[in-house]
Amino acid sequence: MAFVERVFSGVQPTGNLHLGNYLGAIVNFVKLQDTHNCIYCVVDLHAITQPVDVWGGPAELARNIREVTAAFIAAGIDPKKHIVFNQSQVAEHAELAWVFNCVARMGWLNRMTQFKEKAGKDRENASVGLYDYPVLMAADILLYRATHVPVGEDQKQHLELSRDIAQKFNNDFGDSIRKHGGNDGLFFPLPEPLITGPATRVMSLRDGTKKMSKSDASDYSRINLTDDADTIAQKIRKAKTDPEPLPTEEKGLEPRPEADNLVGIFAALSGRSRADVLREFGGGQFSSFKNALVELCVAKLSPIAGEMKRLVADPGHIDAILIDGADRARAIADETMKLTKDIVGFIHRR
Ligand code: TYM
Repeated sequence: MAFVERVFSGVQPTGNLHLGNYLGAIVNFVKLQDTHNCIYCVVDLHAITQPVDVWGGPAELARNIREVTAAFIAAGIDPKKHIVFNQSQVAEHAELAWVFNCVARMGWLNRMTQFKEKAGKDRENASVGLYDYPVLMAADILLYRATHVPVGEDQKQHLELSRDIAQKFNNDFGDSIRKHGGNDGLFFPLPEPLITGPATRVMSLRDGTKKMSKSDASDYSRINLTDDADTIAQKIRKAKTDPEPLPTEEKGLEPRPEADNLVGIFAALSGRSRADVLREFGGGQFSSFKNALVELCVAKLSPIAGEMKRLVADPGHIDAILIDGADRARAIADETMKLTKDIVGFIHRR
């Protein structure tokens, strides 16, 4: 029996939502609303896996949870038709993560490149939560038995781990799943990553070989969703390029990461292909292309920044949206958790 299609994705409230988050993830969240039931989560439990100075402490965390929620809504996510909530309000995320901790293997987690990058050289001092981060991510998705997960390229490995966990759970408990009437021995779907569009990996504006990231020390490396028009213009004008004119064909972008990145951003923001953008700008200088990119970026991002500002000015309204979303998420989560308990053999109140 096929699983009902459902979309789940999450964004961490760690500050500085940027163009990479927007083009790699949020734009696709918005599109999927037309075809799927969607659940979009502000993953605050994930945020605290990093040292406190990275996520900024309690007041900053609460502010950032509201800001990500505001970004979702300002970008066009409808919290009435779909579900928007913050992870820590649904305790079942942590509960299912525990069961998955006992399914996932150390060897699998040892291969996670994001842990290696984030922990850096001082691995002994990384939190256990940072190591376990991808297991919680699998619980986020599978708690809703979600089938499709829109993410940027950097989350691909984590999604593969989620599939491995789902598969091992289904195998380990196959007989019990069948006994409890589940889907021919399949309880959890193997979630599919949706990594789509021309900007699945937006790169730093200062270095085309590095990912645009919230944690880069230079604010000139990224365009934040809250940047005003002047700041956007300055950042794009200062963005690293090379001395050659833009190529006329996509192949010409291959050895030129900075040019490739800017053309990819233009394509994603305008809903065009890279080839189409090069048909218009190929052969020209970067300066005129950059002017067009500034105009496009400001036209697309300014209304979102304006709406985010309006929304965060009323925290009570945002909190009410998150509470309502959490109530609806919990209803689904509770059902999955009860079935999981039956399958594993835990005794519980029905
Ligand atoms: P986070 O908060 O780091 O990023 C949110 C989303 O933005 C994408 N992204 C990018 N896409 C393109 N170019 C970039 N430079 C770029 N930087 C970030 C990310 O791929 C992501 O889709 N682990 C997740 C959060 C998470 C999650 C989940 C996602 C927790 N549970 C369950 C999906 C399903 C993360 O760190 O996202």
